[in-house]
Amino acid sequence: MEKETYISDFNRDSIHTILLNNKEDEIEELFKMALNTRQEHCGSYINLRGIIEYSNICKKDCYYCGIRKDNGYVKRYQLTEDEVIASAYQALENGLGSIVIQSGEQSSKEFILTIDRLIQKIKKLSNNKLGITLSCGEQSEETYRRWFESGAHRYLLRIETSNEALYKKLHPDNLHHSYFARKNALEAIKKTGYQTGSGVMIGVPFQTPEHLAEDLLFLRDFDVDMVGMGPYVEEQNTPLYLYSAGLPSLQQRFVLSMKMIALLRLMMPNINIAASTALDAVNKEGRFEALKAGANVLMPNLTPAKHMQNYSLYNGKTRLSDNCQSLLNEAARFASSAGDKLRFNQWGDSRHYLLRTNKHEEVLK
Ligand code: 5AD
Repeated sequence: MEKETYISDFNRDSIHTILLNNKEDEIEELFKMALNTRQEHCGSYINLRGIIEYSNICKKDCYYCGIRKDNGYVKRYQLTEDEVIASAYQALENGLGSIVIQSGEQSSKEFILTIDRLIQKIKKLSNNKLGITLSCGEQSEETYRRWFESGAHRYLLRIETSNEALYKKLHPDNLHHSYFARKNALEAIKKTGYQTGSGVMIGVPFQTPEHLAEDLLFLRDFDVDMVGMGPYVEEQNTPLYLYSAGLPSLQQRFVLSMKMIALLRLMMPNINIAASTALDAVNKEGRFEALKAGANVLMPNLTPAKHMQNYSLYNGKTRLSDNCQSLLNEAARFASSAGDKLRFNQWGDSRHYLLRTNKHEEVLK
């Protein structure tokens, strides 16, 4: 049996020191160690998920987010069930063994039932071949259970920041945006039995390297199975845009994000870490670079083209070149230069989850 090998001497101070270290050769060394650790504990391959951005309708008003409720400049959309199904077929055709259904947060009965129906339909049409991750925000335990029982097996809910005071600066102060409710939701997701994912934004206004060090310790102590984290990219029509002037440059936020990914890989060798899309907003090969610095999940976007531009979380999110096939071709080229292969037609579960839930036989597959 594989042993959990947390490196125990990561603490607030040692992480902080690494985050502040700007010596290029040492940063390169960190990335290389993270790549080696990932290859040793997760294998020399990149897991794939097709992401389907179901709707940009959102009841929340997070100060950083382009699709916040009060942003009147956004053209709102919701995919039809047929559009979601077509995207799921596209995942199958492209050999993506898994999809993510992501959405702005809604809690109407209709929303809950539609997602539920979609999960069941996709499981059926794919003969259970497609794994399903959900990223649909804070929901009741009952809803999490309903979706789990219908066949979704992973859930991603970013904590955004693990620091309560910073959380309050990034969100309106009301019941819809409670730090504790978010943490409780994350607990409920885990309790339901999902492979549980979380993550943070890196380089947001008011955030310090100490906050980021605490974020990594939070993710470790929560014992997450998967992580998606990436740079904050300012979006014009949001309240936080006013604080853009004092921010580190986009390039600095990019490097900081890469260091966060690499450090987390060393702290949690067998979790799944996504190369988040926001990395590409800074550097057009950003996601590929992350795959050489500890990340092991790539998520081509399968949202129908006519809606893609409206899922505008931040400036420059949508690139016309984000065509699934060309992204996969380029990714394969990059991956092979690090000795990795893209892993087609597999769910690509988190080894961390399989071990923590004693599904050891599946780890051997
Ligand atoms: N920059 C980077 N990431 C953002 N997100 C939302 N707004 C931004 C932004 N301006 C991220 C949040 C959310 C995910 C869907 O997108 O972390 O959880």
